[in-house]
Amino acid sequence: MGLQKQKYHLEPDRGLLNDPNGLAYYKGKFYAFFQWNRFAKDHCYKEWGLFHSTDLVHWDFEGSALLPDQIYDKDGVYSGSACQIGDQLYLFYTGNNKTNGKRTSSQCLAVTSDGKKYLKYGCVLPTPEVYTENFRDPKVFRGASGDYFMVVGAQRKCGKGAVALARSKDGIHWKPAGDLARTEQYEMIECPDLFRLDGADVLIYGLQQRDNEKDTCGISFSAYKISSFDEKTATLTDADLDHYNLPDYGFDFYAPQTFADARGRRILFAWMSRMDADEERVFSANEKNIHCLTLPRELHVKDGKLYQNVPAEYESLKGAEIPLTETRYAESPRDKFFSSSAAAEYKKSAVFPDRTGFIKIAGIAPQQNLSVCSIEDGTKITYIGEQHLFSLKRYNWVTHCEEEKKLHLSSLASLEIWLDTSSLEIFLNDGEYIFSSRIYVRAQQQTVLFSGISSRMTIECRQMAL
Ligand code: FRU
Repeated sequence: MGLQKQKYHLEPDRGLLNDPNGLAYYKGKFYAFFQWNRFAKDHCYKEWGLFHSTDLVHWDFEGSALLPDQIYDKDGVYSGSACQIGDQLYLFYTGNNKTNGKRTSSQCLAVTSDGKKYLKYGCVLPTPEVYTENFRDPKVFRGASGDYFMVVGAQRKCGKGAVALARSKDGIHWKPAGDLARTEQYEMIECPDLFRLDGADVLIYGLQQRDNEKDTCGISFSAYKISSFDEKTATLTDADLDHYNLPDYGFDFYAPQTFADARGRRILFAWMSRMDADEERVFSANEKNIHCLTLPRELHVKDGKLYQNVPAEYESLKGAEIPLTETRYAESPRDKFFSSSAAAEYKKSAVFPDRTGFIKIAGIAPQQNLSVCSIEDGTKITYIGEQHLFSLKRYNWVTHCEEEKKLHLSSLASLEIWLDTSSLEIFLNDGEYIFSSRIYVRAQQQTVLFSGISSRMTIECRQMAL
């Protein structure tokens, strides 16, 4: 097994994974399709691959699902979603055709009854006149009225982005229903998702800068807003995409998608990456594959905010407790990036032998300073109580420079970390803020150092029971 290969996150055995697609709970199984290049660790080819699970924790890799084998999707079976209609699972995706440098996008339908055979119906929504061919990533849901709605990531002819809406009575015949929301600052919206949760309507979307001349993308990141969707008028109370919240504050998070399971829980997966091509190349130099999905997260809306937590099923992965050792790390650090003066401060340490684990720190006092740090790769989590400042620092494996993500909080009461071989997902205040990031580690184990520990604080460290 390669050094960066994850042990309990979804990643295919080869090639490149990006967005989660077609998430569903259907006929007793969880479905997680995903954007996949099975031939190479680059973005030149896109099909849908598939993982199945019966418990949301243990997944079987099923290989290819939807292939780019039709004229309208020959240059990529792009992202999309699933919706059960009657007894069948309807898969909506963008067929990408790029001929002589000219892009044509078709919102397409494929239907399955068993997750093995797929019947392609072709294009069910051509690009409406008011948008450019940067029109993709259909997410379909059934409204309270019984009508089906499709939100699509779009670019208006003026060169700025929108979430486009379409409406259908049967999931097959679709009519455009105008812009649901717009941005005046970004050139494109990708991967929108709209769902009702805890009495609110949540719109999640990717804001993207594009060079419209060259048809290439620049910076992109995920955002969300809480609003109210009126099915009759097909409008949102707050349609301004330039005012948003962040669903994740880490280095690696994009293209989240949600679905409702049999119990009605709203569950999200995202692509855990924002790496550029150089970072991808170095990160996966010794691996057959690149990228993984985040852990699933159960969503709730509380006080106008999205809360995200790892579903209860994942309790079963928490294994034997790892003892904490009193430590004074005065000796020279094992990693050349880690400065020994910083290391000398730490008071307790825990060794995660296979670099996977779970850490929970609770009972953090309001003005407390806290630091959690990995000695092998120099990743550092700090909270400065006086400034209410939370920070995550990691070393970039291409530039070898430290990079930082920061957030001002009103308070920090608890911190939970899900550690896999090459990733961290940090949950603050029981899911109020999340930081998802890949980390690049060359050692076999992970030594985590804690400082700023007080007697009212509890630290739980566990191995993963894999
Ligand atoms: C987002 C995205 C989508 C597109 C897919 C192609 O990461 O660019 O907009 O459908 O990836 O793989």
